[in-house]
Amino acid sequence: MPQNATTDDPRRLAEFEARIARCKTIEPKDWMPERYRKQLIRMMSQHAHSEVVGMLPEGNWITRAPSLRRKMGLLAKVQDEAGHGLYIYCSTETLGVDRNDLIQQLLAGTAKYSSIFNYPTLTWADIGAIGWLVDGAAIVNQTMLAKASYGPYARAMVRICKEENFHKRQGFEIMTTLAGGTREQHAMAQDALDRWWWPSLMMFGPRDKDSPNSDDLLRWKVKQKTNDELRQRFVNITVAQAMAIDLTIPDPALKYNERTKDWEYGEIDWEEFWRVVRGNGPCNRERLAARRRAHDDGAWVRAAAEAYAAKHEPAASVA
Ligand code: 3HC
Repeated sequence: MPQNATTDDPRRLAEFEARIARCKTIEPKDWMPERYRKQLIRMMSQHAHSEVVGMLPEGNWITRAPSLRRKMGLLAKVQDEAGHGLYIYCSTETLGVDRNDLIQQLLAGTAKYSSIFNYPTLTWADIGAIGWLVDGAAIVNQTMLAKASYGPYARAMVRICKEENFHKRQGFEIMTTLAGGTREQHAMAQDALDRWWWPSLMMFGPRDKDSPNSDDLLRWKVKQKTNDELRQRFVNITVAQAMAIDLTIPDPALKYNERTKDWEYGEIDWEEFWRVVRGNGPCNRERLAARRRAHDDGAWVRAAAEAYAAKHEPAASVA
């Protein structure tokens, strides 16, 4: 069967696609092609996993933040990411899946999460680079997803994008402070940009021609833009910001195209991308081990919550 064919009832499929063409959102109770539901579960669960695993690289700098103000900002950001994961697990559950199953897939190492979180945070400047670049890339992507055809996902993005803006600002402020500080601080900021720039471009996924899921997602308006379009938008925004704080984008091929108004960038190392996606990045094993440990350590909390719910759940009404 051709990649995009579906075995669904043609009449219902036509009604579904007409609804999307009218920019109506699809809600959990609405009929939807099985392929649409499966694509959403795949994409949304990976997004939720990414938010939760994304807490780890930053979490290990909370105790080492250089000031109380920086510590409070980082604490608030990491806490936000946990909330983002919960919102998106909740919206994924509206598609008829159980979040415990999704979490078990993550813990078993069979679920994907964004490759960016498999890189180490070596200095305090990395916390600035993550806020500025990683959350900056997330904002470019998620402001698009706030218009996704699936209602619960789009609505989750609205609040998440507001919080991502705070994340990006606090990261860019850290980078601005360091870049404008001593020679050593400027060097620390430049080193972080050098290490986080290319993995941030990889957050938008493979090139359009190598993206097996984009056809479905664009057809059914989960994505409104392609991976490469979003990546280009991110590059155009971020190059100007780097120049504003006297940092250099680590790409000798970078050049401005007066006609398209785009910053053209060099070739991404797709071997590195797929190596990290397939579990062989610098921190993949460490991240999963930390996630498994946190899950085990939290078992008593889940047991207590379940016991409380069982005790206080309204008694089932007797027919
Ligand atoms: N890391 C890991 N896997 C990736 C990836 C990445 N950066 N980019 C793509 N992949 C995977 C895809 O999941 C897919 O594998 P699968 O078919 O087994 O699921 C394969 O590579 C091919 O990629 P496609 O382009 O076909 O996949 P998509 O159409 O799903 O596009 C995506 C990938 C752009 C990441 C899209 O899924 C998306 O926009 N997801 C929602 C946003 C999201 O997940 N962002 C991740 C970061 S979360 C974050 O930034 C938190 C913030 O607070 C910092």
